[in-house]
Amino acid sequence: MDQNLLKKEAAESAIQFIEDGMKVGLGTGSTVKYMVDALAKRTHDEKMQLTCVTTSSRTKDQAESLGLKIVDLNDVDHLDLTIDGADEIDKNFQGIKGGGAAHTMEKIVATASDQVIWIVDESKMVDTLGKFPLPTEVFDYGLTQITKTFEDLNYHPVLRHYDDGKIVRTHFKNLVLDLHLDQIKDPHALADQLDHQVGLVEHGLFLDMVNKVIVGTENGPRIIDNIR
Ligand code: A5P
Repeated sequence: MDQNLLKKEAAESAIQFIEDGMKVGLGTGSTVKYMVDALAKRTHDEKMQLTCVTTSSRTKDQAESLGLKIVDLNDVDHLDLTIDGADEIDKNFQGIKGGGAAHTMEKIVATASDQVIWIVDESKMVDTLGKFPLPTEVFDYGLTQITKTFEDLNYHPVLRHYDDGKIVRTHFKNLVLDLHLDQIKDPHALADQLDHQVGLVEHGLFLDMVNKVIVGTENGPRIIDNIR
C-alpha cells in the first residue's frame, strides 16, 4: 500500500482524540499535513473551539489558511495534546524526529503538552533507532569545532543541504548536522551526552515523550498506548 495512504490513515485516526475546547499542538511534516486537513474539517463541521500552537511556519500557514485558530506558544500556559509525526520509533516508544528540521520547536511544544501522539506509517517502526540520521541543530558559530567533535566520536556528521545544494536553515536560522550513527544502542546515554554538548541547540532524540502511537498499516490504523 502507498506510504502516503498509510500516513493519511494514521493522521485521520488521530483527530478522534481531540476534544472541543482543547489547546492543541500541531507538529510538522507530511503526515501532520494530512492531520491538519482532517482537523480543520472536523472543527468546521462540529463547530469546535480549539486553540492551536504550531511547530513550523509550514504548519502555521496551512492551519491558518484552513481557519484554525493559532496562537503563540508563549500565550498558553500548557497544551492538552500535541499530535506530530516521527522519523523512527523503537519498541520502547523512543523516537527520532527532525527530518524536517523542526525538532527544536517540536520538542519544546511536546514538552509543554500533557499528552503526545505520534502518527506514522509502519515503515517508521524499528527495533533499534539510528538508521535514520539523527538531526542536530547547531549554530554557525563553532560549526568547525562541533563537526570535529562529532567526527572524533565517529558520529559521522553531515551538514544538511537541500537537493539544489542550498544549506538547510532551521526556523531559528541555524544549521542542521545529521549524525549517521546506524545504530543507537543506548538512546538515553547519547541524549545525555548531546544535552551537554556546547554549541548544540537541540537534537532529535525524543525520549520518554510519547503517550500514544498511531501506525498506518495495510489493515487499518493501529493505536498503541505507551503505558508508562
Ligand atoms: C519534522 O522536523 C519531523 O520531526 C517530522 O515530524 C518527521 O520528519 C516526520 O515527517 P513525515 O510525516 O513527513 O514523515
